[in-house]
Amino acid sequence: MTSNAFKLGVLASGRGTNLQSIIDHTESGSLAARIAVILSDREDAGALERGRRHGIESRFVDPKAFPDKRAYNAELVSILQSRAVDLVCLAGYMRIVREPFFEAFPNRIVNIHPSLLPAFPGLDVQQKAIDYGVKFSGCTVHYVNEDVDSGPIILQAVVPVEDTDDAETLAARILEQEHIIYPRAIQWIVDKKIRIDHRRVVRAES
Ligand code: GRF
Repeated sequence: MTSNAFKLGVLASGRGTNLQSIIDHTESGSLAARIAVILSDREDAGALERGRRHGIESRFVDPKAFPDKRAYNAELVSILQSRAVDLVCLAGYMRIVREPFFEAFPNRIVNIHPSLLPAFPGLDVQQKAIDYGVKFSGCTVHYVNEDVDSGPIILQAVVPVEDTDDAETLAARILEQEHIIYPRAIQWIVDKKIRIDHRRVVRAES
């Protein structure tokens, strides 16, 4: 892949299966981008291990080494900018992204969330979907703005909730769809196929 390829920066705190899906799609060529850097707030994040296995720069940045959240976010932004990242992808990143992220990457930060937003923002959402009794849940790729899980929606996939589901079985079925729609949504952005019209993401005119 040439050095002028569309560059992704991935932020992850956990096991990194969505990261893995993005890696696999970039390696197979079905996603025309490359991951320039993976950053984590957790030294033990499986995501870092996955990145290293694929020869991708994968760094733990310790939040405790910074005086406050802004300073921490500024450090992440500075690393991402120094790698000329075009799009920041949150993939199981457990911190709230704050300034200076939005001034550095306006409409250039995306996230995957395991519910059909705006239903069930926040944490433990598969359990919340079961407890509420919805018959369908799913996942959402959305732009990230200042409010948690509230940015313009790019793509969603619907997953049925079965009577026999617990949070674990539902999460697993939703995760399969996450791995499909996240790389697809990123490819739309790479291809400039979409634009934001107020809070609606619509097909860009070619
Ligand atoms: C996924 O369910 C994602 O939707 C949510 O956090 C989880 C991350 O899983 N934001 P993984 O680390 O990608 O496996």
